Amino acid sequence: MKNKTNKKSFDILNDPKINKGTSFNLKERNKFQLNGLLPPKISNLKNQINRAYENFRKKPNDLEKYIFLTELQNRNETLYFKLILDNIEEMMPIIYTPTVGEACQHYGDIYRRPKGLYLSYNFKGKVKSLLKNWANNDVEIIVCTDGERILGLGDLGANGMGIPIGKLVLYTICAGINPTKCLPITIDVGTNNQKLIDDPMYLGLSHRRIKGSNYEDFIDEVISSLDEVFPKAVIQFEDFGNKNASHFLKKYKKKYRIFNDDIQGTGCVVLAGILSAMKKLETTISKQKILFYGAGSASIGIANLICKEISKNGCSINEARKNIFLFDSNGLVVNNREKLNKEKQPYMKDLKLENDLLSCIKKVKPTILIGASGVRNAFSPRILREMEKINDSPVIFALSNPTANSECTAKDVFLNTKGKAIFSSGSPFKPIISGEKEFHTSQANNAYVFSGVGLGVLLSKIKIISDDIFLNAAHTLSEITSENDLKNGKIYPSINQIRNISIKIAHSIVKSFNKKIEYKDIENEIYYPSYK
Ligand code: NAI
Repeated sequence: MKNKTNKKSFDILNDPKINKGTSFNLKERNKFQLNGLLPPKISNLKNQINRAYENFRKKPNDLEKYIFLTELQNRNETLYFKLILDNIEEMMPIIYTPTVGEACQHYGDIYRRPKGLYLSYNFKGKVKSLLKNWANNDVEIIVCTDGERILGLGDLGANGMGIPIGKLVLYTICAGINPTKCLPITIDVGTNNQKLIDDPMYLGLSHRRIKGSNYEDFIDEVISSLDEVFPKAVIQFEDFGNKNASHFLKKYKKKYRIFNDDIQGTGCVVLAGILSAMKKLETTISKQKILFYGAGSASIGIANLICKEISKNGCSINEARKNIFLFDSNGLVVNNREKLNKEKQPYMKDLKLENDLLSCIKKVKPTILIGASGVRNAFSPRILREMEKINDSPVIFALSNPTANSECTAKDVFLNTKGKAIFSSGSPFKPIISGEKEFHTSQANNAYVFSGVGLGVLLSKIKIISDDIFLNAAHTLSEITSENDLKNGKIYPSINQIRNISIKIAHSIVKSFNKKIEYKDIENEIYYPSYK
């Protein structure tokens, strides 16, 4: 029998970029032969959003909500982005941390449709041909992971694809980057996660990670191919293993339009939070003693950017480092420690080794404590009480994601610092309300900065993304944080303002290169989800 499928009509309904579902009007239904294929009642975007929101709300848990949104994205992109844009505060934790972590852990089970590009080691020597398979060559932002350190969850191999996809959704939501110009990439060189290797549902290469020069050459090939095929794109590295993250950043940052969000984005957002906390406490960053618990990509990125900031005020970087202390899985970073990697060495102190965080706090007396270790509950009540004993108003960051890995909760901080601490976390916590007292906290969300930075770099057309760009973005973000936010204990503005924040960051970056552009020009140029 002859296939009578009306392919054109179904093509339209199956293309999430142009599908309007029940919002196709009569003229469009006639033109594209959609009559009968859709229910007769003609809807509009507002009604569709209400319906989608109701359905979203009915989902029994966050992973189901994530799956619901992913399926909506597969059906109708405009509706998807508008729904999230209208409900950022509620939906950001679903499309990104903490839920995206759970989604990555189940990626093989919830996989429905191809999204993003998998650059697998099988194609060594042929990466360019894979890139050319991508439908659009006008790519502006690429987010790229090799899945080795997904959030605080470790090596998830090819299942890490949820991360670049999620980050690029945020680029569209936060900074209005057109979704057609976003490219999520997962470099698959295998995984050292034996559970995944043994799992028949796992979708990546089921062998241990390729190492050494084979790995290094493959990443070189990926980067040079990306630069050649998508020359104007900004490349964001994300969730590479600790050593590789800093190694590749150093290797590529002076040659390609690249930055690492775990290192530089985190540095930027935490610096912005500290600058705001300093305003609230009426002091300066140069006067602080900062202790990091965990000394990986995030902590080193934050520490380095803080030192740059302090050194702007006249002292040397070495001078600035004196008040910054690192504590990793082997204890305090001190002179006589063996096998310290190059990133940590500049922070070595002439002190006795301390293996216990509480004793270390008693000795160092930090004013700011920053956790980026992935160690759940590392900031015990005794530690928090000690921070309160040393400081009138201690500043505490518990950055580890997802929520289950956080060094402490908002409640822990509230109860053990008499509500006096300024607290910020990697995953969001609800305010604590106790009698008359309300304790508000903020999420040190990299989304505050990376999308504005990406947009600013694109508009500036600069090739190299320097640290000054991140210092600029940190100051811009801190300036947007209002007196009222500070009064309420928050050190970041509401995430609902994210478009304004991203545009302001981009605007400030473009201006720093003496290029003329108005805020309004950027606002008018970026993508806004609506039916055409
Ligand atoms: P990483 O793997 O590079 O570093 C982890 C560090 O923690 C290492 O220095 C390790 O020695 C240390 N560590 C592990 N166990 C420890 C223990 N028992 N005691 C002391 N130190 C210990 O990871 P990365 O990229 O630095 O990220 C760390 C955490 O921060 C992750 O959970 C990640 O999700 C989170 N993060 C949050 C961000 C945010 O909220 N904006 C941004 C970037 C990372």
